[in-house]
Amino acid sequence: MCGIFGYSGPKNASQIILEGLKRLEYRGYDSWGIALGIQNSKFPGLAPRSGAGKIQNLFVEKHVGAIGDIKTFNFKLLTLNSHVGIGHTRWATHGGITEVNAHPHCSSDKSFCLAQNGIVENYQKLKQDLVKLGYKFQTQTDTEVIVRLIEHKFSLQPRRPSAVSLRPNRLQGNLMQSVREAFLELEGRNTIIVLNNKGGIIAARNGSPLVVGLGSQARPGVPSEVYFSSDTLSFAPFVEKIVVIDNGQMVYLKNHALEILDIKSNKTIPYSLEKINFKSSKVEKQGYSHFMLKEICESPYVIRQVLNQNLKQYQIFAKALKRAKNIYTIGSGTAGIAASQIAFYLRIFGKIKAQSVIGADIYDYFDLLGKGDVMIAPSQSGETADVLEVLEIAKRKGVKIASYVNMPGSTMSRMSDYKFASNAGPEICVMSTKVFTSQIAWGYLLGKVISGKGKVGRENLKNLADQIEQYLVSEKNHRLLKNLAKKLAHGKDIFLLGKYQNLNIVKEGMVKIIEGSYIHAHGIPAGDLKHYAITLMEKGVPVIFAVSEDVSFDDVINAVNQVKARGATVIGISAKPHSSFDYHIPVPDSGETSAIMNIIPLQVLAYYMAVQLGHNVDKPRNIAKSVTVK
Ligand code: BG6
Repeated sequence: MCGIFGYSGPKNASQIILEGLKRLEYRGYDSWGIALGIQNSKFPGLAPRSGAGKIQNLFVEKHVGAIGDIKTFNFKLLTLNSHVGIGHTRWATHGGITEVNAHPHCSSDKSFCLAQNGIVENYQKLKQDLVKLGYKFQTQTDTEVIVRLIEHKFSLQPRRPSAVSLRPNRLQGNLMQSVREAFLELEGRNTIIVLNNKGGIIAARNGSPLVVGLGSQARPGVPSEVYFSSDTLSFAPFVEKIVVIDNGQMVYLKNHALEILDIKSNKTIPYSLEKINFKSSKVEKQGYSHFMLKEICESPYVIRQVLNQNLKQYQIFAKALKRAKNIYTIGSGTAGIAASQIAFYLRIFGKIKAQSVIGADIYDYFDLLGKGDVMIAPSQSGETADVLEVLEIAKRKGVKIASYVNMPGSTMSRMSDYKFASNAGPEICVMSTKVFTSQIAWGYLLGKVISGKGKVGRENLKNLADQIEQYLVSEKNHRLLKNLAKKLAHGKDIFLLGKYQNLNIVKEGMVKIIEGSYIHAHGIPAGDLKHYAITLMEKGVPVIFAVSEDVSFDDVINAVNQVKARGATVIGISAKPHSSFDYHIPVPDSGETSAIMNIIPLQVLAYYMAVQLGHNVDKPRNIAKSVTVK
């Protein structure tokens, strides 16, 4: 999962690209790099031929670490007279986190450089062949193989007499065709962006996302400026129109005009511009100390956004679900837990047999998928590779796809037969909070609409949004969770037990604590306690219970007493106190939506634990916001 970015236009390219990379940092922040085309008319012995484009040097700078942590940038970088460049923020897949392995990677003669998002699954074979051909490698990355392969394809291009041979081994020929031929040999999900020293940008997509943003038209068909990126958010304030590049397409600038090519057929294809209104996207903390707390506090807003969705769309989808043969919900990570809660709500309220599957491991289902089935994918980015791969297979088998996605123009929403957008606003913290809450609130409402009780469902969510708002503005609640966080943050093992509507809630609480505190937390069904977990119950072991006044209440209280009897420290999230709780985290009684209420204190608790430990709350170690590689 990396972030790629490119810019060509009248503005200072380095500043635009650095800002874009900061907005893409959630996709990976091991290291970052930038390459700029530098106007250099004093290049010795060359008078650029008219129409040949301005010859430029490429200036490349790379750093280990997160771009967001850089306080002062290299002065030269900011003052360079450059109007074109590319950038990359990395989540290492092949090759350690070093400056050498950081992107962009340059051709041997520095005539072009490249950044990649994805994994070249056949890079060892390609590397062996290239080594046999005499190419040298400086890095352990799969990315460098793409660069050398393009060089090799370049060397096979029919030579055109060049007006001036700048350097004996200067690569001539058509970079575009070389990129295209090399790209066709790559296996795996890869998106690349290439900057050449004529100030040209070429990008190709197969898998990881690629969006192009266009500034106002300098003249008909010629945009004044062009942005390339892994997501829309990173250039949102500067553009009105976007073009989403599909798998198997290349995009390049030709005399400042945008051309899109079908890679296989090598034919240019028409494209349409999509309007976006992300200008209002606030990507600042707005007074909060971390994005995570800001985004948790936006939970009431996101639930109201669920209510703002077009009810007709819900009804059409509800009808389709009632007719469906099999219904699957699918996701990875937090979205996978949301998928499971959505399936729960479809069963319990919609009375339909929905089952959740794990995005990264559903091979055993492939033979069962077929026409008449529906697969529902909740996803923040809409780009999770594991899930996309399953959706593509399911679609080919005639399964109808539904998605509930937060990033406009994302692959999942573009491939869906039923598209829902959470409109939760940008979620910057790698740990998903408000989007998870949005996803399960949407699943609840969908269940209610299917049962013909959509109105009641909307009423309940409206009240829930108000209750969560009250809960989050109370200093007393934050103080209680902060004090509890201090006690738990230095613990070793934390258990979370829940049942029925709260089972996925304690699993999500587990994920939040693990992601933010790097502590081993374990969310398990309360009913499983006596089958294995009880052996670990002893004095001082913290056990968090999410409790609702529902059919599972007595069973859960039995489990509370059983761990209590073995000396464990019991923390109860519930509307009412209980004599067996050592710590009670009171929440409003929100009836059918109790589980959605219960996730809020767990998210806040996980937040304060991460803060207590001094961790990078918005960018926890080793993980990224969007997993666009398998
Ligand atoms: C993980 C994120 O890497 O990917 C989670 O940390 C997210 O927050 C999961 O839920 C799946 O990503 P997405 O974009 O499909 O929700």
